[in-house]
Amino acid sequence: MSLQQHVTNEFHSRFGEPPTYVVRAPGRVNLIGEHTDYNDGFVLPMAIDRDIWIALRRRADRRIVLHSLDFAEPVDFSLDALVHAEGWVEYVVGGAWILGEGDFPREGWEGVLAGDVPVGAGLSSSAALELALLKAFWAVSPWAWDGTLMAQLARRIENEWVGVQTGIMDQMISSLGVAGHALLIDCRSLEATPVPLPAGTRVVVLDTGTRRGLVDSAYNERVAQCREAAAYFGVPALRDVSLAALEAGKDGLDQLPFLRARHVVSENERTLRAVDAMRAGDPAALGRLINASHRSLRDDYEVSSKELDLMVEIALGQAGCYGARMTGGGFGGCAMALVEEGAVERFVEAVGTGYEDQTGITPSVYVCRASAGVEVLSDTLPE
Ligand code: GLA
Repeated sequence: MSLQQHVTNEFHSRFGEPPTYVVRAPGRVNLIGEHTDYNDGFVLPMAIDRDIWIALRRRADRRIVLHSLDFAEPVDFSLDALVHAEGWVEYVVGGAWILGEGDFPREGWEGVLAGDVPVGAGLSSSAALELALLKAFWAVSPWAWDGTLMAQLARRIENEWVGVQTGIMDQMISSLGVAGHALLIDCRSLEATPVPLPAGTRVVVLDTGTRRGLVDSAYNERVAQCREAAAYFGVPALRDVSLAALEAGKDGLDQLPFLRARHVVSENERTLRAVDAMRAGDPAALGRLINASHRSLRDDYEVSSKELDLMVEIALGQAGCYGARMTGGGFGGCAMALVEEGAVERFVEAVGTGYEDQTGITPSVYVCRASAGVEVLSDTLPE
């Protein structure tokens, strides 16, 4: 049974009638452009065919009541009394909060939620949740929906309500994803341009099964080092520094901020070149850029891990693999690989066994399709 059917059926049995709306918001994998979003740089993620689903209907009493099929804690609060909560509930309250901040109309609703974006794996389950929630609020009391603005609000739920400092990439792609395409996002102007995936290739997500603690502090430390480097060059963000200027002016800059800056500046270049490679239908060139991105994240940005490096090495050893790298924030979670379509089946098998043989961990492997961003479905509900 699809998740859409599952939330629909659960809604029906809980509330005695079919839902009025079903909303869906996807997770994402980033092809290239890592740790560039908070430097006003370029990213190239795609939305994947793994989603958060919510089946819902309006309530007249300004309460939000939501049951998750994945988490035990139920949600039940009034739009007129928002208080901080724990875990996933905090995101739901945060969604109500940010819409209030923005003076958007808010009505109560009730529903059932389920998802298949693995949590904590670096595939943006939280951005998917944020966008699905905003769409649910919108469904019961619509306003003029602007996907870019909604991504900005979703990021503020994360930054200002939940208190996690992240860039804008995850929310932008979950909001604005286009089927069959990655999105080149300029994280300064927020212009988003669909770029077709090279024909005859598949994007494979390789979950190392490892999750790192203290990721937030390491992330914030990188953000601070990038700011330090940008301040040293007297520019608003590392987006404004070229590789030539970085090399020429590095003498007064400490080693660590220099290395972090070298990753960001070179990654921005690689991302734009990756777009050219995709438009030219050249998966080999795209693969080389993906590989260079991994080396830079490992050596200059230092956000990879033993398991991510091993996964990438095993992937690169397989026939038909154009390129592989860690994806997302790093320190654990997922790698991704660009693989020739005809070789995918063998690739999945070989990487799975190879990684398990060396680590004792069975990895989760997802062959992904680029999917569309958040949407509401109301008249196509399955039985
Ligand atoms: C996390 C953040 C994103 C981005 C990536 C690294 O996924 O949520 O905003 O910074 O790390 O590219």
